[in-house]
Amino acid sequence: MSSPSSVRAHWSSRWAFILVTAGSAIGLGNIWKFPYMTGTNGGSAFVLVYLACIVGIGVPLLMAETMLGRRGQGNPVDAMRSVATEAGANQLWQVVGAIGILGASLILSFYSVVAGWILDYTVLAVHGFDGMSKDSLSAIFSALLADPWRLIGWHSLFMLLNLLVVIGGVTGGIERANKILMPALFAIVLLLLGYGIVAADMAAAVRFMFHFEPQAISATVILSAMGHAFFTLSLGMGAIMTYGSYLERGTSIARTCLYITLADTGIALLAGLSIFAIVFAQGLEPAAGPGLILQTLPLAFSQMPMGNIVGVLFFVLVAFAAWTSAISLIEPATSFLVERTGLGRKPAVAAVCFVAWFIGIAVALSFNLWSEIKLFGLNIFDLLDTLTTKMLMPLAGLLIALFAGWVMKRAHVADEIGLQGGAFRLWYGAVRYVSPVAIALIFLNVIGVIG
Ligand code: PFF
Repeated sequence: MSSPSSVRAHWSSRWAFILVTAGSAIGLGNIWKFPYMTGTNGGSAFVLVYLACIVGIGVPLLMAETMLGRRGQGNPVDAMRSVATEAGANQLWQVVGAIGILGASLILSFYSVVAGWILDYTVLAVHGFDGMSKDSLSAIFSALLADPWRLIGWHSLFMLLNLLVVIGGVTGGIERANKILMPALFAIVLLLLGYGIVAADMAAAVRFMFHFEPQAISATVILSAMGHAFFTLSLGMGAIMTYGSYLERGTSIARTCLYITLADTGIALLAGLSIFAIVFAQGLEPAAGPGLILQTLPLAFSQMPMGNIVGVLFFVLVAFAAWTSAISLIEPATSFLVERTGLGRKPAVAAVCFVAWFIGIAVALSFNLWSEIKLFGLNIFDLLDTLTTKMLMPLAGLLIALFAGWVMKRAHVADEIGLQGGAFRLWYGAVRYVSPVAIALIFLNVIGVIG
């Protein structure tokens, strides 16, 4: 499309795009959620289905969303409008972009509170977890959740860190931060992996995660894995579309998306292996749930050689991962405000962060003072999590698949995606048939019809 790509900011290279998008994808989802979901969903069965979902739905949709952003050359709403216009389709398709902007801003509000836990634990790790027992660690976590000021303080600091980066612009802020944080993140993962191999029980971790156990696959496992594939690849929330809109034409979408997925999945698997190697070496339980890295792992750190150093490294890793993801949650609404209202970048970023920070306060209070405030039996934190990751994400994903697969003209799709022959047909088939059917199944499960 002959859009004014020259006036939009662009990543400095295709590697920069790969790095920032991997930065968005690799986050709390990889290092906090994936290991505990693997632990509670029976280990290898979950890993297997998750990998299948990444290949069958994740990669195709990642490519489709990047393609829409690049073709539309705008914030998610305007990108969808311009591609819909080109396809002669209804302007209502802009709603897909709006769902993304709304969803990203809401995710940011609770993501920042959870990232705040990680900052708190980074400081705890510096002091060391020596001599702590299972009970004292669980008391520490409960005390954190019970303290509104501590939660709000860390949440505010985390939001401020993000604001400072995104205010710097697409290349001067987002790209620059990722160029520092992502290599550091990869280095820490490798260090932890090395520790897991040399000093912990890597064999048990490999068995737990990769022992082939098809009989353990259940509907719950499939649906959790599918939902997680969405979350970990940052799909449907406008982040990928916005980052894609800063991508130069002529760059292969298929190849870059493949690298991004390999990095995202690779980090999840390596982090999972390292965590379970440490957990098993200390004879601890892998199925602790969300407290796995906040309670079980610190217990392991307190018992193992060099536990202090490994503990600090680990929480710094999680904090960096959360940071590069949160940045990408701010950009969709920012680009919308800048392009639609003419607001400068600084006030736009400040407005987005302020709104998410404000909602985040309610999230922080939902663990203590407002824990009794519930809607459909869910507190504010669970409500926002359910609304975004279980509803808005799959809804946007479904609409993106339908739009790219059925509404856009095939020739335009082929031109933008840059695949030919069998490779194109494979990807197109996944977007037209596999993704919509799979996502429809997730929905039916969420609203209670199946599962
Ligand atoms: N992919 C991130 C993670 O795994 O933690 C979370 C995320 C970031 C979701 C950006 C959605 C998004 F737009």
